Amino acid sequence: MKDYIFPDIPRQYKKIAKASKKLEFNMASDLYTGSLLKTLVASKPSGRILELGTGSGLSTSWILSGMSKTAKLTTVDNNDVLLDIAKVALADSRIKFVLADGYEWIKNYKGEKFDLIFADAIPGKYDLFGETLALLKVGGFYIIDDMKPQSNWPAGHSARVKKLIALVRGKR
Ligand SMILES: C[S@@+](CC[C@H](N)C(=O)[O-])C[C@H]1O[C@@H](n2cnc3c(N)ncnc32)[C@H](O)[C@@H]1O
Repeated sequence: MKDYIFPDIPRQYKKIAKASKKLEFNMASDLYTGSLLKTLVASKPSGRILELGTGSGLSTSWILSGMSKTAKLTTVDNNDVLLDIAKVALADSRIKFVLADGYEWIKNYKGEKFDLIFADAIPGKYDLFGETLALLKVGGFYIIDDMKPQSNWPAGHSARVKKLIALVRGKR
């Protein structure tokens, strides 16, 4: 299997990547994560999807490409400049773009639970993990990436990652 070939990169991806580069935004998920997101989202027809950490919309474009006509996505970020790039490039009535602090949003959300959560910001991943899992339907997917050591990790991050992996595995 040649898993390094991506024949289905979303059509909006290049434009968003160009705008992201201009802003020197380099925290986007890689193509493997994007492709996995698309596949898992496609396995949830009419799914309710949550993305925490829209960034400029690169991962969002993958999520969108896997969504059925009746699926819905809520995507949250606290950076209006990045969110605007995503809003313009991915305008679609199935997506709700939310400019908000993730901590507040998670704590205050009272709507329907989600079939898939892609947690790609500190809130929802390293913080408020339990509260975020509580927003997932039974049988839903909770997705996180960047769990393997990286040269740019700040001091102390490695310990946080270890703790989160233990939590996900059900150890404390
Ligand atoms: C890893 S990036 C997301 C990248 C994006 N998912 C992608 O793959 O293109 C993390 C994002 O979390 C956002 N963020 C950081 N702190 C936040 C907070 N407290 N509330 C909401 N968003 C936050 C940042 O603005 C940034 O866009």
